[in-house]
Amino acid sequence: MNTTSDEGCSAGCAIVGAGRVGTALAGALRAAGLEVGGPLRRGEPITADGPVILCVPDGQIAEAARAVPTPRLVGHTSGATTLDVLLAAGHEAFSVHPLMTVPHGAGAHQLAGAPAAVAGSTPRALRTARALAEAAGLRAIEIADADRAAYHAAASIAANLLVTLEDGAERLLATAGAGRDVLAPLVRAAVESWAELGGERALTGPIARGDHETVARQRAAVQARTPELLDVFDALVAATERLASRQRLQAPENGGPADVLASTSEGSADARARIVRTVAELREVLAGPRRTGALVGLVPTMGALHDGHAALLRRARAECGYVVMSLFVNPTQFNEASDLAAYPRDEAADAAIAAAEGVDLVFAPAPEEVYPDGFATTVKVAGPALGLEGEHRGAGHFEGVATVVLKLLNMVRPDVAYFGQKDGQQLAVIRRMVRDLDVPVRIEPVATVREPDGLALSSRNVRLGPAERRRALALQAGLQAGAASFADGQRAADRVVAAARAAMTPYDVDPEYLAVVDADTFTPLDEIDRRALIAVAARVGDVRLIDNQPLNPNGSAR
Ligand code: PAJ
Repeated sequence: MNTTSDEGCSAGCAIVGAGRVGTALAGALRAAGLEVGGPLRRGEPITADGPVILCVPDGQIAEAARAVPTPRLVGHTSGATTLDVLLAAGHEAFSVHPLMTVPHGAGAHQLAGAPAAVAGSTPRALRTARALAEAAGLRAIEIADADRAAYHAAASIAANLLVTLEDGAERLLATAGAGRDVLAPLVRAAVESWAELGGERALTGPIARGDHETVARQRAAVQARTPELLDVFDALVAATERLASRQRLQAPENGGPADVLASTSEGSADARARIVRTVAELREVLAGPRRTGALVGLVPTMGALHDGHAALLRRARAECGYVVMSLFVNPTQFNEASDLAAYPRDEAADAAIAAAEGVDLVFAPAPEEVYPDGFATTVKVAGPALGLEGEHRGAGHFEGVATVVLKLLNMVRPDVAYFGQKDGQQLAVIRRMVRDLDVPVRIEPVATVREPDGLALSSRNVRLGPAERRRALALQAGLQAGAASFADGQRAADRVVAAARAAMTPYDVDPEYLAVVDADTFTPLDEIDRRALIAVAARVGDVRLIDNQPLNPNGSAR
C-alpha cells in the first residue's frame, strides 16, 4: 500500500536507522510537526505511512531497501550512493544527504540551515526529498546522480580530509610543546577567509610570497619530527604553489592579499628580475623551489622581448610555481655573422619586462659559459629540421637551436618549457628531439601574437623602416589568402599556395619559400588531409621574416 500523497510527506514518514543521522533527522522532522515513525532499528517493522528514509551505512542500503515490503517512496541519506540501489528493490527512489557533520551526541539543531543534496527518480520523489529536507530545516540543493561521486568527494576533501590535516598540524606542534588550542583560532580564521574570499584571495604565507627558503626550512622540520607527514606536506606545497601562481596572475588588479604584494617586487614599474649567469648559481637557486616541489617552467629566449615573449612568460607564470627565463643570443644558430651582430640586445629592458611578467629568475649566461673551450657535441635532428628553414638557413641553424635548447633543458631541468607557434618548425624540431632523446620535460606551444594589422611580433621587426614595415604585411596577406582558400574547401596544396602567392604580389615581396606542410613532420603535402601549416619566409629589405598559419582539415583555418 502506498499512501504517500503527492506533497510527499504530509502524512508523515518512517526513519530506518537509529544512528546519528537517523536520530538527528527524526528529531528535526518531529520538531517541524511531522509524524515520524522511528528511528527504527534494523528489523523493526515499519508501521508509519508515507515515505521511508533509510539512514543506514552505504553498504546496508540495498538490504534495508529490500526489507521494505511494499514498493513505495524510499529514500536514503547517503552522500555517495546513487538511487540505483533503491530502484533495484522496486521502489520509487529519493535521497536527502545533509551536508553537515553530525558528531556524537549532537541534536537536531546541528542540521538547522545546513545544505542538503537532494535527488529523486521521479518528479514526485524529488519533490518529496525537497519537502523532507526543508521540513528538517535543511537548504535543498539538487545534485544529479552523475555528479554524485564528485559532490561527495568535494565534501570529503572539505571536511574529513581537513580534519586529518589539522590532526597532523597538531601532532607537529605537539613536538614544540604547544596544543590544539594554539592552532584552533588560526584554522577558524583561515577557513572563514576562504569561505568569504575563495582560495586565490585568501591564500597567505611563505608559498604565496614566493619565499622558497622558508618553505625549505619548514620541510626539514616536518621531515625530522613527523616524517609520516612529509608526503602530504610535499603534495600540498605543490598544490599551493599552483594556487599561488593563479593568485599572482590576479594581483594586483584584484587586490591580492597585502602580505603578498608587500613582500615581492610585483607591481613596481622599475623592478628587475633576479639574474644569474653561471650554471652553478642557477642550480643553487633552483634547489630551493625544487625542494618545495614547485613546478618549474622555462621560457627560452634570445631577449629583445616583445609581447610574443610576454605571452609565453604569462602562460608559464599561470601554470608553474617557479618561472625561469633564459636570455641568451645563441651564436651557433645564426648562419650570417651580420644577422648575429645586428641582433638587438637590451638586458636591462628585458629584465624589467621579465619582472613585470612575474619571472622568478633570469638565466643570462655568457657565450663561454654555454660553449666552454673544447665544446665538441651537437644535436642534429633530421625529420622536421630538413625542409624550409633547415634548407634556406642551412642545416647548422636547427643544429644550433637543438643543441642550445637541450643544454638549457639540462641546465634548468624544468617540468615544462614554452615555445611559440610563430617559429612552428623550431617547435616541431624541439618536440622531435625531446621525444627521441627521452628528455623529461613537457613542451607547451603558445599561439602567435600579432600586431593589430596582423604582422607577427618579432625581435627583428624593429629593423624594418616605415616602407618595409608596410611591405612586411605581405606575409600575413599571403597566409590569410591561403587560409581563406583552404576554408573555402580547397584541399590541393598547390592551389592554396597559389592563392597565397597571388596575395603577396602587390606588396612586391618575393617569398623565399611558401609551402603547405604536415604540422608535426614538416614534410610538404600535396593533399591537405591532416593537421597542416602554411609557412612562409621572405626578405623585406635586409630583414628576413617568417610566419605560418595552421590549417585544420576538421574545421576552418584557425
Ligand atoms: P626568440 O626568437 O627570442 O624566441 C623565444 C620564444 O618566443 C620562441 O619560442 C618563439 O617562438 C617565441 N616567440 C617569438 N615571437 C613570438 C610571437 N610573435 N608570438 C608567440 N611567440 C613568439 O626562438 C628563439 O628565441 C631561439 O631559437 C631559442 C628557442 C631561444 C633558442 O636559442
